[in-house]
Amino acid sequence: MASAVTILAVDDDPLSRELLTDALRPLGVRVLTAAHPDAAMQLVESERPAIVILDLMLPDRSGLELTSEILQLAPTTDVLLLTGHYTPESAIEAIRLGACDYLTKPIQIAALRARIGRLLEDLHKRLEAARLETALVRAHRFEGMVGHSAQMLELFALIRRVGPHFRVALIRGATGTGKELAAAALHRQSPVAAGPLVVCNCSAVTESLFESEMFGHLKGAFTGATHDKKGMFEAADGGTLFLDELGDLPFAMQSKLLRAIQQQEVRPVGANASRKISCRVIAATNRDLEAMMGAGEFREDLYYRLSMVELHLPPLARRMEDFPYLVRAFLERYATEYGKTLEGITPRAQAVLARHSWPGNIRELENVLASACMMAETGMVDVRDLPAFFQRNTTLAEPTPSPPSYDEMLPLAEVERRHTRWVLHQLQGNKSKAAEVLGVTRSTLYRILGESP
Ligand SMILES: Nc1ncnc2c1ncn2[C@@H]1O[C@H](COP(=O)(O)OP(=O)(O)OP(=O)(O)O)[C@@H](O)[C@H]1O
Ligand SMILES: [Mg+2]
Repeated sequence: MASAVTILAVDDDPLSRELLTDALRPLGVRVLTAAHPDAAMQLVESERPAIVILDLMLPDRSGLELTSEILQLAPTTDVLLLTGHYTPESAIEAIRLGACDYLTKPIQIAALRARIGRLLEDLHKRLEAARLETALVRAHRFEGMVGHSAQMLELFALIRRVGPHFRVALIRGATGTGKELAAAALHRQSPVAAGPLVVCNCSAVTESLFESEMFGHLKGAFTGATHDKKGMFEAADGGTLFLDELGDLPFAMQSKLLRAIQQQEVRPVGANASRKISCRVIAATNRDLEAMMGAGEFREDLYYRLSMVELHLPPLARRMEDFPYLVRAFLERYATEYGKTLEGITPRAQAVLARHSWPGNIRELENVLASACMMAETGMVDVRDLPAFFQRNTTLAEPTPSPPSYDEMLPLAEVERRHTRWVLHQLQGNKSKAAEVLGVTRSTLYRILGESP
């Protein structure tokens, strides 16, 4: 329960300590205070507070140094920093060191209580999750992302922590690992969540049009510029610009992009003055930027600017703890989408899926399960509902493909049904086309499949 939670407030200013104590007590927590880092460390050791609130400016050493010390001694402590001089850089630095949040002074009681309230809630959930250590704990979700593995829970925590502070961020990971989803999560956790999230796919823009796409153009700036056009930066003003496939950004555009990010201004093609903008920038790529820098294809200065906050999405094969949760989430989603009542997936089918290496990561898994849901009838998704690839590659499903045994001598109706489903799968579920290919009417097709039209 929250009442058992201890909070330690560290500040050399007695008034501040008093204010913090008064502000926190109504939350039903035990509040301890310390004026000096040494006293604070002693209390951390003896009392193990769940939350420590630290002033950034302390005698002897900085709040940042003390943060590292505390986390070394008690790694699960939530450290919240207070400062009179907020800069996004120091906030990012604090979060990098493991602080969980950052508040500005003068202390606003309502804001402080709200933050602490959230921390207490998280703490409560963590305790509860630890208690409910069963395989059936509900899938963890964060901003539309399903994740249960340590890597994903850490990623969710990082997004939550940097969301309020970042100006630029870089998301890396192989294809289909969820980079775009992570970018949207970061935007939604930012103070501009209500503003636009503009997506620019760098690989889809031709080199000659890049400048105009990003920064806009004036009427008559070039042949074909029949009217003024806003660029993506301006469209993202007051929100976030998501630069997807950053590795495909033409080299000539990289310095222009860096300038726009640093100056927070853009000059439309054909204009002779710049326009001020304010937007956050999230870039994503699956390319090896270090190798590209080595080959002179990617600018180091842009890389260092973007990688101040870097998120990594691990490949699915390296976080198979997430696998059952993802499977369940996709089955639920697609069963609903196709209007089917599916109870789940058979252990056999799940085992067959789990043995695949998933080079296409979560997107590949999602596609496979969407197709399986389409093929499956009411009940459980089984191996026969999976794409042909999995049936060929599974010794579990078909231990001896030949010679034919009596068991495999199927009734004609079953052959008809299997063949029909196979054709339908090849045609992405298009029933009209399938009927045409099979030379039957749509209603015959429905009858074979045992469905009502
Ligand atoms: N953790 C997750 N939970 C649920 N769905 C996910 C998760 N990660 C990814 N997805 C789904 O997988 C698909 C691919 O995700 P996304 O487009 O974000 O990947 P990406 O890394 O941007 O891929 P690419 O490099 O190919 O552009 C999307 O349909 C997305 O909704
Ligand atoms: Mg993507």
